[in-house]
Amino acid sequence: MTKELTQLELLTELQPVAGENVDRHISMAKEWHPHDYVPWDDGRNFAAMGGDDWEPEQSKLGEVAKAAMITNLLTEDNLPSYHRGIAENFSMDGAWGTWVGRWTAEENRHGIVLRDYLVVTRAVDPVALEQARMIHMTNGVDAPEEWGTSFLHSVAYVTFQELATRVSHRNTGRACNEPVADRMLQRIAADENLHMIFYRNMCAAAMDLAPDQTLAAINSVLQNFQMPGFGMPNFRRNGVLMAKHGIYDPRQHLDDVVWPVLRKWNIFERNDLTAAGENTREDLASFLEDLEKQARKFEEQRDRLLAREAARASA
Ligand SMILES: [Fe+2]
Ligand SMILES: [Fe+2]
Repeated sequence: MTKELTQLELLTELQPVAGENVDRHISMAKEWHPHDYVPWDDGRNFAAMGGDDWEPEQSKLGEVAKAAMITNLLTEDNLPSYHRGIAENFSMDGAWGTWVGRWTAEENRHGIVLRDYLVVTRAVDPVALEQARMIHMTNGVDAPEEWGTSFLHSVAYVTFQELATRVSHRNTGRACNEPVADRMLQRIAADENLHMIFYRNMCAAAMDLAPDQTLAAINSVLQNFQMPGFGMPNFRRNGVLMAKHGIYDPRQHLDDVVWPVLRKWNIFERNDLTAAGENTREDLASFLEDLEKQARKFEEQRDRLLAREAARASA
């Protein structure tokens, strides 16, 4: 077993890589403005300003799109919680601090544009949305205790998480069946992809620096993965609806999020692990086999359910 690196050693060793990746990110990121993605002409006053309050029939979005929009927005709204986690685990020193600030500012734009869109188009109940935001933000998001203060767990988690939100935003855009929403969500998804690349590159560098230790963190993160919407009002109901209709489901989680990242890190090809690292890799491999079985089972159940619903609808 090689000696574990401390948090400070990891951050110091990886700081030059963080610097390169911040520069890379800034050179790739595209400036965009939330107001360009919102159909302001569709807006009108609510009752407090002499207009009408929200009524369900004003929404042009279907149930699945509404559930997904609310879940995605509340997730973006909880930025202060993620900011705290990232700032504590990555530190605010040098390139790390530059990244934390830049990433936070970019993420905030997502919540701004989503809320403006939803309120202007009356796509969801603005009162219920605000109440859910209050509950969700007051609760915050807690990482499992063992990841709480670990750079490696944090960087592994956000790699998968950014890719998961990219998939979810992208599929929500499709489910909206509305070109303005689709364009907005494509724009957000492109940001999430660049964020994912930053974290994925940092985790790859950590993997080269401390293979056993980083793999242990990745393994723990995957085995305990929860979308950050966990605990928000209606999370279960909305999560089930989103999975059933292809916004984010176990198959997509495994094939479009988990595997592409693990392949990039060459997890199953590398030869720099010690015996302890090999054990971790075997544990991860058997977990992935279980995930594959779960994904298959999910697909079968979903297909049966959708077929039953279709038969009922045409009866
Ligand atoms: Fe975001
Ligand atoms: Fe992001």
